[in-house]
Amino acid sequence: MEFPAALVNALRQAQRVSALTGAGVSQESGLRTFRDAQDGLWAQFRPEDLATPQAFQRNPKLVWDWYAWRRAKVREAKPNAAHLSLVELARLVPHFILITQNVDGLHQAAGSPRVIELHGNIRRVRCSVCGKPHSEWDESEAEVPRCNTCGGLLRPDVVWFGESLPASELDTAFEAARNSQIFFSIGTSGVVQPAASLAYYAKQNGALVVEINAEPTPLTPSADFSFQGKAGEVLPALVKVTFSKQ
Ligand code: OAD
Repeated sequence: MEFPAALVNALRQAQRVSALTGAGVSQESGLRTFRDAQDGLWAQFRPEDLATPQAFQRNPKLVWDWYAWRRAKVREAKPNAAHLSLVELARLVPHFILITQNVDGLHQAAGSPRVIELHGNIRRVRCSVCGKPHSEWDESEAEVPRCNTCGGLLRPDVVWFGESLPASELDTAFEAARNSQIFFSIGTSGVVQPAASLAYYAKQNGALVVEINAEPTPLTPSADFSFQGKAGEVLPALVKVTFSKQ
């Protein structure tokens, strides 16, 4: 795979690099992206209609079961070459910040030292009423499990449409975008705000924006470099070309 010398040189010399990842990064680990068609049982629902506080209020069991099904898939999944390349970048670049919209925890499983999770983590569960985190619950119950402190329904510790993102993660992400010399947007359709603004904000503040995606996205025309392909192929090749001769 060929990469422009301007990018390779910039990445080799960069002190501050950030990457924003989306569901496409976990696609090669066997996890479905959000805007892919759903499988079997879930084919009749759109993720956007399940990942909302209103959906949980209307039918908590339906939403809980969808997340339980996804949690089971996430637990079976293994990090892929894209996740591992991002661990490498954290080792090779003096200041590297990894920001993800993914809730699957695969960056941490790969060994990334610090991950800014903008949309929470599906492996964590908390009370929908008092917020208490729960590390154990009975998945086999016919009803949605309840909080052992206040009796509220448990929910995944993820951000739903219409909810605020965690403030400190969001601040860190925008600060990273502002300070980056190179900003990667990898495997995200770039249509969900506020994460979708990060690449543009980085560019306004002088970063080179590099996109890696299986398809063109709304960001593509604004990216300084855009690579159409699988993250698990493009990213390891770029890391190898950039750093192997040093
Ligand atoms: P999407 O499903 O919207 O987009 C996945 C992107 O990954 C698409 O642009 C694909 O072309 C690309 N893609 C697929 N396979 C790939 C591969 N192997 N290598 C590279 N790219 C690949 O997922 P996100 O952009 O992550 O939010 O979605 C953003 C947010 O919308 C999610 O975090 C979630 C969702 O609704 C909430 O739930 C709040």
